[in-house]
Amino acid sequence: MPLVTSTELLAAAEAGNYGVGAFNAINMESSQAIFEAAEKERAPFILQVTQTTLGYTEPEELVACIKALAAKSTVPMALHLDHGRSFQRVMQFLAMGFTSVMIDGSLQEDGKAPRSWDENVEITKKVVEAAHAIGVPVEGEFGMLGQIGGDLKGGESALTDPDMAAKFVETTGVDILAVGVGTTHGLFKGKPYIDHERLKEIDAKVNVPLVMHGGTGVPDEDVQKGITEGIRKINFDTGIRIGFLEAVAKEIHSIEAEWAEADATGGIRKYDIRRVLKPARASMVEAIRDRMRVFMSNGKADSFIGASCKEDPAKAAERAREAEIAKVLE
Ligand code: 13P
Repeated sequence: MPLVTSTELLAAAEAGNYGVGAFNAINMESSQAIFEAAEKERAPFILQVTQTTLGYTEPEELVACIKALAAKSTVPMALHLDHGRSFQRVMQFLAMGFTSVMIDGSLQEDGKAPRSWDENVEITKKVVEAAHAIGVPVEGEFGMLGQIGGDLKGGESALTDPDMAAKFVETTGVDILAVGVGTTHGLFKGKPYIDHERLKEIDAKVNVPLVMHGGTGVPDEDVQKGITEGIRKINFDTGIRIGFLEAVAKEIHSIEAEWAEADATGGIRKYDIRRVLKPARASMVEAIRDRMRVFMSNGKADSFIGASCKEDPAKAAERAREAEIAKVLE
């Protein structure tokens, strides 16, 4: 299945009234988990990489691994840059064949201080011009992310203003818009409050699909309500990390007990890294599958393939046969 653009995925989601999960990958295991979850749920998805991943691995290495997985995938997906912070960085990811990019012009390159309206418009417009020249859609951000009454800097006035958001989309030409309506990256302190009235107003005034960043910890009913109010892309990262680390912690605990036993009985300690990575990957798969169901993208891959992707009929028949065999084996 060739990579598709995020615009195509989000248009199908708009028509089918569901949300597309955008899942962050940082290594081979998290990438594999995202693909495996999508295959199992038959859910179209966006796999995204942030530029800070670059501090951990060379982008080309990770992207080569993701592309190898994509070549085998039978589910439509887009490869997206999450929170690009400079023109140069976005160009680097476009050159690697990303089919969707985000320029987060709401914050300065350090990801901390806010950018002014003019600065946000200037950098976003520049990225849009370059990306559109090669047919790649751009996600922009207008308004601040943050928990209302929590880590939201500048209070509620920092959330996305619907009229200004419409002007931002019109001025910059972005294809997708990330909005601040009370969600935050990472976990919430206490119960989150999502400003649905604001979201509805933004949706009424803005004619591009909207993105909910900070998907972890947003109650299922708020996510699903958000989908009826124009949210089409939902970013999910911390929940994947939780899945990984909780499984690792559990497995390390039992490995340590086995080592203690071996030490006490004169046995030999065993060292197998896969012992930790396998359950960690399986745990990420489950966390992602759970979100795909909440976003209601499960089962949507095949109608998408039929409608706009024109999958090779031989490949489609092979996949149908495999599905039949899997059913018999169940
Ligand atoms: P969470 O880590 O809260 O799921 O947010 C992810 C995100 O918005 C990535 O851009």
